[in-house]
Amino acid sequence: MAGMRRIRQSKKLQHVRYDVRGPILSEAQRLEAEGHKVLKLNIGNTAPFGFEAPESMVASMVAHLKDSQGYSDSKGIYPARTAVAQFYQSRGLKDTTVDDVFIGNGVSELITMTLQAFVDDGNEILVPAPDYPLWTGAVSLSGGTPVHYRCDEENGWNPDLADIESKITENTHALVVINPNNPTGAVYSEAVVKGLVDIARRHDLVIFADEIYEKILYDGAVHHHMATFAADDVLCLTFSGLSKAYRACGYRAGWVMISGPKELAADYLEGLTLLSNMRMCANVPAQHAIQTALGGYQSIEELIVPGGRYYDQVKLASKLLNDIPGVSCVEPQGALYCFPRLDPEVYPIEDDEAFVIEMLRAKRILVTHGTGFNWFEPDHFRVVALPDEEILTEAIERIADFLETYRS
Ligand SMILES: Cc1ncc(COP(=O)(O)O)c(C=O)c1O
Repeated sequence: MAGMRRIRQSKKLQHVRYDVRGPILSEAQRLEAEGHKVLKLNIGNTAPFGFEAPESMVASMVAHLKDSQGYSDSKGIYPARTAVAQFYQSRGLKDTTVDDVFIGNGVSELITMTLQAFVDDGNEILVPAPDYPLWTGAVSLSGGTPVHYRCDEENGWNPDLADIESKITENTHALVVINPNNPTGAVYSEAVVKGLVDIARRHDLVIFADEIYEKILYDGAVHHHMATFAADDVLCLTFSGLSKAYRACGYRAGWVMISGPKELAADYLEGLTLLSNMRMCANVPAQHAIQTALGGYQSIEELIVPGGRYYDQVKLASKLLNDIPGVSCVEPQGALYCFPRLDPEVYPIEDDEAFVIEMLRAKRILVTHGTGFNWFEPDHFRVVALPDEEILTEAIERIADFLETYRS
């Protein structure tokens, strides 16, 4: 239309991507609109796969619904923050107090908020590759430069500490760690966690520790909080929430706990409080589920042992993927995902997003390409192991069929 100005997205979004819900999902939705049934192994959303939040959590929300009509304290309601503080106390972080906890609309909101308050234009932030891509996107959105460090597939996907060191410049301000990891399912050893904290300590970096899968551990894997080793001399922000272990993605309830030299970080924490105030508060009904979730019987324990759905499905997916010629998958020790490698000699893929779209069109199966997790080469993809074993088996059979045609 002559004379009218085009309305464009802001330049701030230039480097912001979130492929987990990007063009591939749009293509899947187009196919569904045409009447096709697509098997979706792309998003870690528990409810559509028949997982339910503990009843006591729902009851707690219902019981408090009537008194949840007002805004709460912007950092969150007192019982929820107390429960979070006590959880970390019980994990050995005995000095954690209610004041150290901010409740948010999921970890997602808190990732964006804590980075917005911290990052200045051009600051370099170390982010794992592969990563949960919200981290890279949120660093870019806040004006920073994400610098990706390599997690080493040949070493159980543990972060490569030497690679991290080599990427530190005088402009590096923070280190993001995702443990247990999405998309790889790695749970970092104590030595690696200590090594990461040691790097942060020596280079004066703030730690952003995304530990949302801390309770989803298999085969005796042990999770070590970064905050334990960061002690009182490294500022550490620890993130977790109800979405995964408590199967309540839609309630939007998460938290960040701040530990370390808080006096030195007073200015940053003031900024964080400002941003927290500006978004008023997190969804109040869901905050009433937090104390109930964290106390008492922990039903997650049933899901992560043999016979439990999380355990059986993750193990099955990993095995079936490993059975495909030219495909190898490091067995996940935690979380809900498999991140298999496609041997480039067998599958010479140049554009993994195009590869995944081709597979979607041919087999009606939706996975996410590895470069969508900021992986360096187009030779991986991620499978979400949430569908039941029957559907997972069918889905991975379809992947195997597709790969067979791709091979020849
Ligand atoms: C590593 C990681 N961090 C954060 C989130 C976001 O969680 P929330 O639902 O609390 O926003 C996810 C969701 O998949 C995740 O995998």
